[in-house]
Amino acid sequence: MTTATLLAQWFPIHKPKGPTFKNTTTRFDRNLEETLDVRRSDKAVFTMHRNEPHPESLDFSTLDFLHLSKSGLIRTAFLQELAANPDFELSAGGSRLLNGNNPYTEAAERQIAEFHNGETALLFHSGFEANVAIMGSVPRPGDAILYDEYIHASTHEGMQISKAIYKKSFKHNDVESFREKLLEIKETEKIIRDGKRSVIVALESMYSMDGDVSPLKELIQVGQEVFPDGNCQFLVDEAHTTGVYGNQGRGYVNQLGLEKDVAIRMHTYGKALACTGAAVVCSNTVRETLVNNARCFIYSTAPSFPMIAAIRGGYKLMQSGETQALQDKIQHVVKHFAQTIESNDTYEEAVDEGILSIPNIEGWESKPFVTHVVPVMTRQRYTLFLCYHLQLAGINCFPIDYPVVPKGFSRIRIVFHAGNTDEEVEALANSICEWAQEMLDLEASGKGAKVPRAARQVHAAQEAAIEAR
Ligand SMILES: Cc1ncc(COP(=O)(O)O)c(C=O)c1O
Repeated sequence: MTTATLLAQWFPIHKPKGPTFKNTTTRFDRNLEETLDVRRSDKAVFTMHRNEPHPESLDFSTLDFLHLSKSGLIRTAFLQELAANPDFELSAGGSRLLNGNNPYTEAAERQIAEFHNGETALLFHSGFEANVAIMGSVPRPGDAILYDEYIHASTHEGMQISKAIYKKSFKHNDVESFREKLLEIKETEKIIRDGKRSVIVALESMYSMDGDVSPLKELIQVGQEVFPDGNCQFLVDEAHTTGVYGNQGRGYVNQLGLEKDVAIRMHTYGKALACTGAAVVCSNTVRETLVNNARCFIYSTAPSFPMIAAIRGGYKLMQSGETQALQDKIQHVVKHFAQTIESNDTYEEAVDEGILSIPNIEGWESKPFVTHVVPVMTRQRYTLFLCYHLQLAGINCFPIDYPVVPKGFSRIRIVFHAGNTDEEVEALANSICEWAQEMLDLEASGKGAKVPRAARQVHAAQEAAIEAR
């Protein structure tokens, strides 16, 4: 997918269609188009780009953090799993509560629970489904849900069907805001204050659009202080940290040594493990609660053999220690990026002038670890300019814009991988600075429109594409 093709798609999909549909489609479709037009006029239409990056483009975008998919390591592990189980039946044959439970699935859940040092585990088709299941079935009437304001859409989805009436957010990663909200619950909710109901706190270990990690230890301390009887418990979504943090990829909770303090961990397999599916690691009580109440677990056909085989293959790679070197490589790659960009002559000036802002790498040398998702910000009106520049330089990255992030907070999300080489990282850092220098020069020139070279090139290609239609 080239920038020109992306743009050629972007403009037409945002053009309202309702008026052109008059009398040509059913009333039903026209009604739907009316709703879509609201999004179109808000320039907020989602579209599925076909994933066909140029073979030579540098991957700073996919969620294949450990490079297991591209390197073929997960494919080999998966094929070994198939070879070890030659008589497998492809489908589960029913819900887990009917015919869909089998020794292979149960062994996978034991493997997952043991690896993460948890009492038990329960598999789901996806992380989205797991979060819906947890939020929809664990909180009881009278319980409260307190969640980080940046929590994933799937947790919001689950909260909509949750029986908890009290659902409030606290400021993103803000321990004091969390304490305030928790004290408010203690004051207003007698049934919780008396210990007859609980507070469920929903967090992510690492937030995918900002690449920052949760101050989990501090939050847990506050939870235990305010509710010493243990009726404030945490759900930690490890979608972005499974395989990437902790001993051999056990996750962020493991890295902080907090396994015993977190009631529910949700690990997903579509990112670092390069498979699909998810597992909830929890106590037997929570598992039984899910099995009895989570409608998407009860009324859904159980995961198929290939899905579980890929996950088990992934766990074998982590258990063998093979992925630890890949985790370490990610740390090296991000630090190399930080070092390279900071030593570029343009960087400091670009930051001072507000052309660049990369909060995640600030102070990286003194941090215990760096994160593999690094948003690069610029003036809001320049975000696409930077994206064009990087894409034309062969760097595969995407702009993240409203409605995924709030208006005014668009950014280029850079994702680092174990497969990125030092040269690739240097190309990225230098390309960002080359663009920043161009913008600094344009701003200093005082000329009217400050449209850099890459953007002019893309606009020309886009006009040509429109004319050719
Ligand atoms: C934080 C978070 N939780 C849950 C999910 C959903 O996981 P899955 O892709 O397995 O449905 C995602 C996926 O993007 C995520 O980023």
